Amino acid sequence: MLQDIIKEKLEEIKKLSASTKEELEKIRIEYLGKKGLMNELFAQFKGVPNEQKKEAGQMLNELKNGIQTVIDTLKEKIEQKQEELREKDDLTKPADTLSLGSIHPLTIVRKEIIDIFARLGYTVAEGPEIEDDWHVFSALNFPPEHPARDMQDTFFVENREDGNNILLRTHTSSVQVRTMEHTQPPIRIIAPGRVFRNEAISARAHCIFHQIEGLYIDKGVSFADLKQTLLYFVKELFGNQTKIRLRPSYFPFTEPSAEMDISCTICGGKGCNICKHTGWLEILGCGMVDPNVLKASGIDPEIYSGFAFGMGVERIAMLKYDVKDLRQYFENDVRFLNQFAGAI
Ligand code: PHE
Repeated sequence: MLQDIIKEKLEEIKKLSASTKEELEKIRIEYLGKKGLMNELFAQFKGVPNEQKKEAGQMLNELKNGIQTVIDTLKEKIEQKQEELREKDDLTKPADTLSLGSIHPLTIVRKEIIDIFARLGYTVAEGPEIEDDWHVFSALNFPPEHPARDMQDTFFVENREDGNNILLRTHTSSVQVRTMEHTQPPIRIIAPGRVFRNEAISARAHCIFHQIEGLYIDKGVSFADLKQTLLYFVKELFGNQTKIRLRPSYFPFTEPSAEMDISCTICGGKGCNICKHTGWLEILGCGMVDPNVLKASGIDPEIYSGFAFGMGVERIAMLKYDVKDLRQYFENDVRFLNQFAGAI
């Protein structure tokens, strides 16, 4: 019966698929072409008994419309896919923009400092951030009751029965000890690294920051060598016009100890807000390595002497780039970071 065939075909057309225009054209010819299915069914329609003509006619129309809808939908899909491919293959289209990153200001300053000391024959040394009491304090001549060991400053990781507690290093001076333990002089190292102190975070302080340590040990090293080395360093980093001044200070691991100021990078020494009208800015601590430190690290203080210095990278970058709030280094705000694009 014609109706049965139509029913079957109505199911069949739901499953039709075509991925190219050629395949779709074949389908069109098969169903709607001159010698196609529809014409054949219309021919058969003439033989349908009169009382069934209405039902069969409606079904035929349904099938014809159904086929047309299927063909239209498939056509749309094929065209959409072709459009996508065309877009993908369009070699004349401008490329996606690649936004270049920038180098972090602390990285820039660290690299500059390392480069300057490399010219003086210093090589880079490293040590662990998780340290023990010996390398951070005891070997550096800190008396057992020294306040820097206090819980206020140091993040402790593990308390040991023998007293050699595990902690986060509070300064890079621990790398001095580690280096001297396994190297005999001459030693010329520069040690950049992260340090940790239990401090409230503010515009001027952070609990994580960066230091660069320097150490020079050899026969006959004097305070004059220290001064000349630091003067060279400062002139290279801040410009030839920069002056230095050393003020007596105290560190357990150096004797004598000093703090070094540079002439203000903003006003050149005349006095301004940045240098609090003194004309000077403090930038590092330094001194002659205490003989006790040499002894503790396995170096004979009767034969060798040396100097050490340590500086904060954040502070130097603040001076170099006029950064007012140290927290900006760690916030990853691209408006801040973008200013350093192409700086190196
Ligand atoms: N370690 C000292 C500090 O963190 C700096 C320093 C290093 C001073 C080497 C003297 C010699 O403040």
